Order: sequence, then C-alpha cells, then structure tokens
Amino acid sequence: MGFYYPESRRSIFERFSLEARPGEFVAVLGPSGCGKSTLLNLLSGFLRPQAGHITIDGASVVPEHPALGYVFQSPNLFPWLSALENVRFGLRMNRKGSLQEQKAVALHFLRLVGLGEHADEPPHRLSGGQRQRVALARSLALEPRLLLMDEPFAALDAMTRSSLNDELLRIWSSLGQTVLFITHDIDEAIYLADRVLVLGLPPTGITAEVTIDLPRPRDQRGTRANPLFAQLRERLAEQIAAVMISNQRVT
Ligand SMILES: Nc1ncnc2c1ncn2[C@@H]1O[C@H](COP(=O)(O)OP(=O)(O)O)[C@@H](O)[C@H]1O
Ligand SMILES: [Mg+2]
Repeated sequence: MGFYYPESRRSIFERFSLEARPGEFVAVLGPSGCGKSTLLNLLSGFLRPQAGHITIDGASVVPEHPALGYVFQSPNLFPWLSALENVRFGLRMNRKGSLQEQKAVALHFLRLVGLGEHADEPPHRLSGGQRQRVALARSLALEPRLLLMDEPFAALDAMTRSSLNDELLRIWSSLGQTVLFITHDIDEAIYLADRVLVLGLPPTGITAEVTIDLPRPRDQRGTRANPLFAQLRERLAEQIAAVMISNQRVT
C-alpha cells in the first residue's frame, strides 16, 4: 500500500507490505516520526491508503471494525466511571448481551488483568499500571482478533512495564489473538514478539525484519539471560542506528 497525508503530500509509505498470520505477535520498532502511529491508524481504518488495500481475514478494514481492539499509551478512561463500568462501556456501545451479562464479562476481563478486587474503584484511585490494565481489559472484552497496541506501556516505570509485559504474554497465549505492538524499546520488542520489524524514516518502510526464536513461555530472567537475546538486541540496535544515521543525512 501507499500513503501520504493529503495536507503535506509527503509520502509516508510507498509499496509498503505487511502480513501477519493469525495469532502472531508482531512488534514494530522505529524512531519517532517514522510512521508508527500512522501505520496503526491505517490498520484500524481511520486513515485510508491512496494505493493498495488493508484487509483483515480478506475483508477491507473500516473504522470500528469488530475484529479490532486498541490500546494506546494513555489509558483514556472515563474518570467518573468505575473500572468495571469503563470495561463495560464498549460492550454497552456494541449492545453485547444484557446488563448482567455485560457486568459478568467485564468482571471476567478485569480478573484476567489482575484487577478483580478493584472493579468498583474509579480511575483516580488506581495506579498508572492499573489504569493501563483497565484499558487492556476494556479492549479484550470485545474479543478482538487483532489487537493494535501503540506504545501501551511507554509511560510506565520499568518494573510495572515488565510485569505488564508478562501479563500481556500470559493473556495472549490463552486468547490467541494477533497482536501488532508498537514500541521504541528494543528489549520490550524482543521479549514479547515472534517477529520484530524496524521501520525506517518515511517513505522507506520496513528496513529490517527479525524473527525472534526465543522459546515460549518467556520469563524475565530466563529469556533475558538467553545468549540469543543479547545477539538479537545487538542486531536490532545496529538496524536502528542505521535508520538514525540516514536521518542525519536527510536533515
Ligand atoms: N495529520 C498529519 N498530517 C501531516 N503529517 C503528519 C500527520 N500526522 C503525522 N504526520 C507526519 O507523518 C510522519 C509520521 O508520523 P507518526 O506516524 O506520528 O510517527 P511515529 O508514531 O513513528 O512517531 C511524521 O513525519 C509526521 O510529522
Ligand atoms: Mg507515534
């Protein structure tokens, strides 16, 4: 596909191609401004490519496609609603089930992210990590087949982030959705993904694609201690450095 913002007409993607197999965990790495958020907005149907197609299970994406879920860097919760009601909100909008059924589903997903005890709390009584868990539960409750995540844990401290990475892997391995996870953290990408893509500056597209053959289930100590982890980090760091150098040549 090809895409430019009509305002600037500067090409962001040219002959860009990406395919994920069902249940695959794909991470996208790239410096600021390389088009990561644009890519997610294209995948979610909020932006439309001028050339080519974007499909989910063979059908074109449209905004609010029922197979799609999103988690953004900011949890965007309604401050006046409890954690449970925030999770139930999407179910309400989609008219999925009766009130009692919606509450049961919302509670199930809050429990899945470890917040069963906090269902009645408003967002301001939750920590940053807990709020992001609510946001994750909210999108999971709609049972998306493709989960789009735009730097979802970037605003959290390192310890909270690594525990959320583990939660996400545990949930993903039980639910089996396809995940596209955007991050600028090389270690996070390696730890989570089956495949890591490096995006170059517009309109380069994908400059590197690295398969992560680390065994699953992964765990913070064992996986990071695997010598392959260090090799992958080095390879990806070189790729990112190459993108940065090409940026300096341009500017
Ligand atoms: N609405 C817009 N109109 C014009 N240009 C945009 C718009 N949004 C982003 N861009 C440009 O597109 C490029 C990619 O942006 P973005 O996808 O936000 O990058 P990233 O998420 O990787 O930081 C940048 O050069 C940015 O300035
Ligand atoms: Mg972005």
